[in-house]
Amino acid sequence: MPEIKLYNENCIDAMDKLNEDSISLIVTDPPYNLGNFMKNRDTNLSKMRDNFFGSAGWDDMAFDEWEQSMNTFFKSASRIMKKGGSMIVFMAIIKVETIIHLAEKHGFYYKTTGIWHKTNPMPRNMNLHFVNSTEAWIYFTYKKRTGTFNNGGALFHDFIETSVTPMSERKHGKHPTQKPEALMLHFVEILSNPDDWVMDPFMGSGTTGVAARKADRNFIGIELNKDYFAMAKARIEEN
Ligand SMILES: C[S@@+](CC[C@H](N)C(=O)[O-])C[C@H]1O[C@@H](n2cnc3c(N)ncnc32)[C@H](O)[C@@H]1O
Repeated sequence: MPEIKLYNENCIDAMDKLNEDSISLIVTDPPYNLGNFMKNRDTNLSKMRDNFFGSAGWDDMAFDEWEQSMNTFFKSASRIMKKGGSMIVFMAIIKVETIIHLAEKHGFYYKTTGIWHKTNPMPRNMNLHFVNSTEAWIYFTYKKRTGTFNNGGALFHDFIETSVTPMSERKHGKHPTQKPEALMLHFVEILSNPDDWVMDPFMGSGTTGVAARKADRNFIGIELNKDYFAMAKARIEEN
């Protein structure tokens, strides 16, 4: 039976307690540092969703502070990664270069920038501009140039398309940036093996944990916010 360890605290403090050279795969969706950017836009977003990420309180750092926090994150992650382990970091497309630069400083080898396309995005201001329907994911390996890649002979594009998170995955509560389970499962299955340790240090509502359980991987999930942590715990336990 795979093991699950969940921590309700800052991911840097929780990662300090983990063993060196123990994590095979990180799949994570950290703050994109778009909170201030969105607040300053002429948009009706906040009227449409009162819990959008800019008002959620965890994505409104100044750019320098966010960059420093991501640097600290990659440094802590590098201590606990296995050589040849893999990492997927979801990110806003405009921040991809910053993330690659920071991760490379700590021994992560940059492989690919891919796109997640949402087939049914919220049609925000659809008569005024191109509706945002994409986010990036960045793929790294640690200290080696290749890692586990379970393609079974299939060709995987650097592009994945799903719907936005369905209501059936939100019954334990709503998280403003909850990812669909199919998206996280895609990366867990390709980039790790049963019994490996998969970690999500910014787990939000626990989607990576649900995917890890479905794929029989061990899982470490870390979330700072106590309400999101409770949601994640309930979701992962149910699965
Ligand atoms: C983009 S959301 C992740 C959403 C997640 N992928 C899901 O499907 O629900 C980022 C999460 O990181 C959490 N967070 C922000 N800073 C953190 C930190 N230093 N340590 C742990 N969690 C943090 C936020 O509370 C938020 O829930």
